[in-house]
Amino acid sequence: MDDVPQLGAALPLVASDPAWLATALGDLDAVHADHLHCERKAAQSALSLIRSYPERGDVVAAMARLAHDETRHVAQVAALLVRRGQPASYDRGDDYATALRREIRVREPDRLLDRLLVFAIIEGRSAERLGLLAAALDDRRARELYASLAAAEIRHRDTFLALARDAAPRAWRARAAELSAIEANILAARPIVARIH
Ligand SMILES: [Fe+2]
Ligand SMILES: [Fe+2]
Repeated sequence: MDDVPQLGAALPLVASDPAWLATALGDLDAVHADHLHCERKAAQSALSLIRSYPERGDVVAAMARLAHDETRHVAQVAALLVRRGQPASYDRGDDYATALRREIRVREPDRLLDRLLVFAIIEGRSAERLGLLAAALDDRRARELYASLAAAEIRHRDTFLALARDAAPRAWRARAAELSAIEANILAARPIVARIH
């Protein structure tokens, strides 16, 4: 999993609608509160792959490390909420992730490939939007936090893509392109809200 720089090209995600950044900046409390749950769910998703594929050493090792990163991100976002003196909120659910998960095929080995690629897409989209926030926030510490989180989510995207490539060397590229196009349709059909997705 070393040769990751070109992997992202296999996942051609469309750029977010510029209205998303304006909406997000208009209600940062809501964005940060939602973001806490995004990081928590990323950790849980990584652990869920360990539950499903304990016999795959590559998946287990990569997901254990990734879950560790994500729980650190939970702590960092939680500290940001405290520093801002803003309220946390309960998870309001995530239609975006639900719509993507609907595309996961049921039978193995397709299921593993699709789960890896859907998680790669969520990481890639998160990285894009955290990067947009990093470039736009006024608060220096929040800006630095978001830049570091965006870089981490890009690495996670590539971790998932490398696992997908190794799991399905012949099928992964075409399926990654297919799911990227589906993600563009899912985004286009959703209202633009002050959340990460
Ligand atoms: Fe994260
Ligand atoms: Fe991540």
